[in-house]
Amino acid sequence: MTDIEKCRITHYPADVLANAAKPVEKVDDNIRQLVEKMKDIMLANKGVGLAAPQVGVPLRLFIISLDGKREGVRVYINPTVTLEGDLAEIEEGCLSVPGIYTKIRRCKKCSVTAADLDGNEFTEEADGLYARCLQHEYDHVEGITIADRMSSAAKIAHRKQLKKLREQHGKDNET
Ligand code: NI
Repeated sequence: MTDIEKCRITHYPADVLANAAKPVEKVDDNIRQLVEKMKDIMLANKGVGLAAPQVGVPLRLFIISLDGKREGVRVYINPTVTLEGDLAEIEEGCLSVPGIYTKIRRCKKCSVTAADLDGNEFTEEADGLYARCLQHEYDHVEGITIADRMSSAAKIAHRKQLKKLREQHGKDNET
């Protein structure tokens, strides 16, 4: 696995954000160390969710802390998210797509099944901010960002910032 100490936020249009991630085969000390690093990065950046591809690790794993506190962080390993309910359009941002806040259409409810850090599977029903956050992070393990989800009108409205990100973080420019 990648050197975890070197993990840092990846930005659109990095390949690791654009490809579906691979299942976690075993919940071991490497994974636990990765999760601790992801907590550090998410909390330092005042995020409420962070997926492993966002720190350059192509694994199906994300964390969420709706209150932005370390004690509140939940871990979702090899998640599946099932969509339920009506659609709603709410503004979202993403640490990997900085400078863009845009309305994204998502289901108001969903359920999630995942394993925790002890390898135990759990299932939960979610609505409100929690449901939205689960869908956003699940998108990341599927290789989808808000830059893909945003409406074509929003793509036009944010074209300068998207271009800037492609120039800064595109294949030839990633540092
Ligand atoms: Ni995101």
